[in-house]
Amino acid sequence: MIVLGIETSCDETAVSVCQGGVILSNVISSQIIHTDFGGVVPEIASREHERMLNNITIKALSDASIRLSQIQGIAVTNGPGLAGSLLTGVSFAKGLALGLGIKIIPINHLEAHIIANLLEEPNIQFPFICLLVSGGHTQLWMIKKLDNYILLGETRDDAAGEAFDKGSRVIGLGYPGGPAIEKCALNGNPNLIDFPRPLAKSNKIEFSFSGLKTSLLYFMDSFKDSNKYSISDVAASYQNAIIDCLIAKLQLSIKQTGVNTITIAGGVAKNSVLRNQLKKVFPKNNIIFPDMNYCTDNAAMISYLGEKKFNLGCKSNINFGIKPNFQL
Ligand code: KG4
Ligand code: ZN
Repeated sequence: MIVLGIETSCDETAVSVCQGGVILSNVISSQIIHTDFGGVVPEIASREHERMLNNITIKALSDASIRLSQIQGIAVTNGPGLAGSLLTGVSFAKGLALGLGIKIIPINHLEAHIIANLLEEPNIQFPFICLLVSGGHTQLWMIKKLDNYILLGETRDDAAGEAFDKGSRVIGLGYPGGPAIEKCALNGNPNLIDFPRPLAKSNKIEFSFSGLKTSLLYFMDSFKDSNKYSISDVAASYQNAIIDCLIAKLQLSIKQTGVNTITIAGGVAKNSVLRNQLKKVFPKNNIIFPDMNYCTDNAAMISYLGEKKFNLGCKSNINFGIKPNFQL
């Protein structure tokens, strides 16, 4: 089956074509316009999606060497995400589906992030644990099979990606914060500044990153007067604290469930220090790392999951709405 996937939940306009579980094209337009504001401006994001969607779709079809008339189904993200952004993608997708007279299915963005791991390992062993770390979510899931997900724990406040983004703003490294902190941290000492690891020692699977960000804020007040540390040391130590918290709860999840296979998903899964730490801490586990292109927001994960759902016989009425707070 040939499926067109559309993703517009935040600030990436993305369209992909998937056929038989193979990604034929994956086009992403990232809205760099938000860089000037230090974060995503929702109103600008939806206008940009509206401006870009048509051309990105044409490019995705052309990259896949597929004509519009060959598309058999459309999969579109309907949540969670920014309401205006979701609306542009869902309206565009519905218009296409109606015009072409083909079926359409709404996709949960978080489920798509998790299932992106199957693009790396289609024969993955169930159950597996997934550490889902994005700009809006930090959750640990046990995936028993497709459509059977158990939430083991999540953050009480900020997401890990948010901790990177806010931390980067505090340090003065710009947006998005994850890649900026990772790059700056390359020349720093991760063990020089002892930032807190909130909840890391508790025996509950939950995260908290807001206190860590506050302690960075206080640290930066005194940083100006100190020549003991470089900005790279701050970035490396802060990144290290976030990663320690993630690893601690992943260890707890493995201990509590006895599941051997570990996967990661979401934008923060791109972080190489996190990937290396995982290999070090879990040498005996089977760890799957999704392709870098399928970690941050993309439509390949949407078209892929959409095709899987169509093949499983999932159906949807065209009158589905957007769900900005969609839970999995
Ligand atoms: O999954 P995603 O593209 O969007 C959401 O669904 O939220 O994740 C975006 C988040 C941002 O917070 C960004 O700073 C973070 O992923 N991120 C990273 C890296 N690349 C992106 N965090 C740490 N290290 C990176 N290399
Ligand atoms: Zn995402």
